[in-house]
Amino acid sequence: MKTVLIVGIGTGNPEHMTVQAIKALNSADCLFIPTKGETKTQLADIRRDIVSRYVTKSESRVVEFEVPVRQTQDRSYHRSVDDWHATLAAVYERLLTDQLREGQTGAFLVWGDPMLYDSTIRILDRVRSSGTAAFNVSVIPGITSIQALAASHRIPLNLVGKPVEITTGRRLAESFPHKSETSVVMLDGQQAFLAIEDPDAYIYWGAYLGTEQEIVISGPLSLVKDDIVKARAEARQRHGWIMDIYLLQKGSDFEE
Ligand SMILES: C[S@@+](CC[C@H](N)C(=O)[O-])C[C@H]1O[C@@H](n2cnc3c(N)ncnc32)[C@H](O)[C@@H]1O
Repeated sequence: MKTVLIVGIGTGNPEHMTVQAIKALNSADCLFIPTKGETKTQLADIRRDIVSRYVTKSESRVVEFEVPVRQTQDRSYHRSVDDWHATLAAVYERLLTDQLREGQTGAFLVWGDPMLYDSTIRILDRVRSSGTAAFNVSVIPGITSIQALAASHRIPLNLVGKPVEITTGRRLAESFPHKSETSVVMLDGQQAFLAIEDPDAYIYWGAYLGTEQEIVISGPLSLVKDDIVKARAEARQRHGWIMDIYLLQKGSDFEE
C-alpha cells in the first residue's frame, strides 16, 4: 500500500514547522510542492526552503506540480469549487500513480494547517473514493494563519468564555457584528470590513504573517480602516500578491 502524508507547514516562517512535520517530511520518498504561477513564486520558494533546511533523507525526491486555476465564468461559487476539486483530484491521482511505487510514501506540503480553508484532505478523499488509487492517509497539523495573527498582535483570540467565528470575506456581512462578537476573516479579496459601520468594532489585521514582509495594523475599525486599505494596496503592488487575515471584535472580557 502507498502512504500519503498531508503535512501542515505553517504560514511563511520556516520555524513554524513542528518536530512531527519535520519527521514526516523525512519519512517520505516523494515531496509534492504545489506551484501557483508567476506572482506567487514566493509561496513555492518557502516550501523549497523548508525542504532544504529540514529534509536530510538523501534519496527523497521533490516533485513540483502546477495548481490549475479555478474557473469562475458562467457558474456558481459552489459549482466553480467543485469543478476545480475534480480537476485537482485528477492531478493528485496522476502524481500518486506516476511518482510513487507500491510501499512508498508521498508528502504534500500544505500551507498553514490542512483543516483550515484547504482542500487537500477532501481532494485526496475524492481520489480514494474513485477507487483508481489505493493509499493510506495521515494528517500532520501545522501552525495556522489564525495562530500567527493572534501571536503577532499578542492577543488571545476569544473574549473570556465567548465563541469565535471563522468566516470568509464573502460571508462576513451575515454575521459580524449582529451574530458574532469575534470573527476571524480569511480569503477576503474584497476588504469586506469596509462595509462594517459599527463604531465599537475593533480590528486586528495582518498580511504576509510569518514572512519577512509581515505587516500588522490594529485599532478601532473606523480609525484604521483607511490605513489598512492603503498598506494593503501598496504591499500588493510591491510584492505582486498578498495574503491577509483579520480579527474583528466588539465588546470586552467579562461583559454579559
Ligand atoms: C486557502 S487559505 C489557507 C489557510 C491555511 N490552511 C491556514 O492554516 O492558515 C488562505 C487564506 O489564509 C490566510 N493566510 C494564510 N497564510 C497567511 C499569512 N501568512 N498571512 C496572512 N494571511 C494568511 C489568508 O486569509 C488567505 O486568504
